[in-house]
Amino acid sequence: MDPFASAHNLDRELHSLLVQASSNLCDWFAESGSQAPMPDSFNMPDVHPAKQGVSNKVLLSELRLLMNGSYRPSHPGSLAHLDPPPLSASIVGELICAGLNNNLLAEELSTSLSSLERNLCKWFCQNLGLGDLSGGVAASGGSLSNLMALVMARNIAGLESDPSAVFFASDDCHVSFAKALRIMGLREESLIKIPTNEKGELEISSLRSSLKKIKSEGKKCFAVVATAGTTVRGAIDPLLDIAKFCQKEKVWLHVDGAIGGMYGLSTIASEILQGLGSADSITVNPQKLLGIPKTSSLLLVANKNHLSSTFSTGLPYAEPITGNDFHGGELGIQGTRSAEALKLWIGLRHLGEEGIEKILLDSIKRRCYLESIIDSSKFKIISGPLHLLALTPINYTSSQTTDWSIKTRSSLLANKFMLSRPMYGDRYYLKAVMGNPNTKFDDLKLLANLINHSII
Ligand SMILES: Cc1ncc(COP(=O)(O)O)c(C=O)c1O
Repeated sequence: MDPFASAHNLDRELHSLLVQASSNLCDWFAESGSQAPMPDSFNMPDVHPAKQGVSNKVLLSELRLLMNGSYRPSHPGSLAHLDPPPLSASIVGELICAGLNNNLLAEELSTSLSSLERNLCKWFCQNLGLGDLSGGVAASGGSLSNLMALVMARNIAGLESDPSAVFFASDDCHVSFAKALRIMGLREESLIKIPTNEKGELEISSLRSSLKKIKSEGKKCFAVVATAGTTVRGAIDPLLDIAKFCQKEKVWLHVDGAIGGMYGLSTIASEILQGLGSADSITVNPQKLLGIPKTSSLLLVANKNHLSSTFSTGLPYAEPITGNDFHGGELGIQGTRSAEALKLWIGLRHLGEEGIEKILLDSIKRRCYLESIIDSSKFKIISGPLHLLALTPINYTSSQTTDWSIKTRSSLLANKFMLSRPMYGDRYYLKAVMGNPNTKFDDLKLLANLINHSII
């Protein structure tokens, strides 16, 4: 096969390699159910290029080694993390994206795809209730979206060179905020953690008193982070109250909706995400729930000019864009970016509103079902309104939960169920995420039975 496809003739060898590779991928999906979430062992291909390149046949067999050694998100027992199987249409989107090899850095390198990203972000903003001035940008993961939101909030507050500036988030906020601190040159104390209530939601009264306190110390706050879907239990902070508070105090509200933000597209949005539309910025991660292949995250902002005023440095080596828009590379931290909007767009188009609703609500139904069949006389179950739950034995000491969680996770793995083992508060839990549409109620019955018998 020629290294590059001809620009004039159909490359039959590339065509045949794509057909064969796609067929192998379909086989890999089809056999996933008879395997396990994680392989027991695997072989690796050589990593160095041989003196002469290898044939397509060798490439395919080496790819097969890697596929055999991969984690299998499609297995019905793959419930550990926020990593569902990929949407079929989005796999095609990803392939085409690689073939087009456009660059979202500059409009001239991604003519239609820059527009696609802009239009798609706007569509998300409208559906999540952000106003007319809204817009957004795709980023490679929720950690990056969160970091960009904080950099923007600090910039808009004019506090970028104030080392004593702080922001607030709950005790259960994601670790990406601790990382953001380091990148932004802030101290650990610059993130003020607000306690959560028994449902894992930020305590608004503590937020009020903490802001009062830092003001009395002469410090300034550049953002409040509310989490819509915490990592361990899927709790949603009281968005409406926090939004009102932020409006009154004139503080930027960032909603980390990496987990729960996608429910803004569902009919239960008004029930569980009230206040979301009053945010200044929102992180959503379609990769975590809807099955858009990684990575797929969006940073959505109520005023899209804030993105360019924070990140635009000019792009002197690219042609200026006509109109008021900016090059993709001027809207965030990343320069060169692949057109991640493509796999998101094609996935949503294929699903349609009804398909999206079904995936979102079925995930919650599976969580509710599992919750209903776990023996609540033996286990403390923590969950919010979303699709994840965590559980730990009642009356165990912290160290007993360590032993129980290690032993139970490993016996579940032996039965082809993979749960994760987060530390939450002072003890270990097992966590199950119900974003895998291949998991049926019968699988959950089996899982609950194993868990219920993990303690006597
Ligand atoms: C609540 C929350 N926010 C942000 C993130 C970070 O997202 P990513 O892993 O895409 O960087 C996660 C990841 O699990 C998360 O749970």
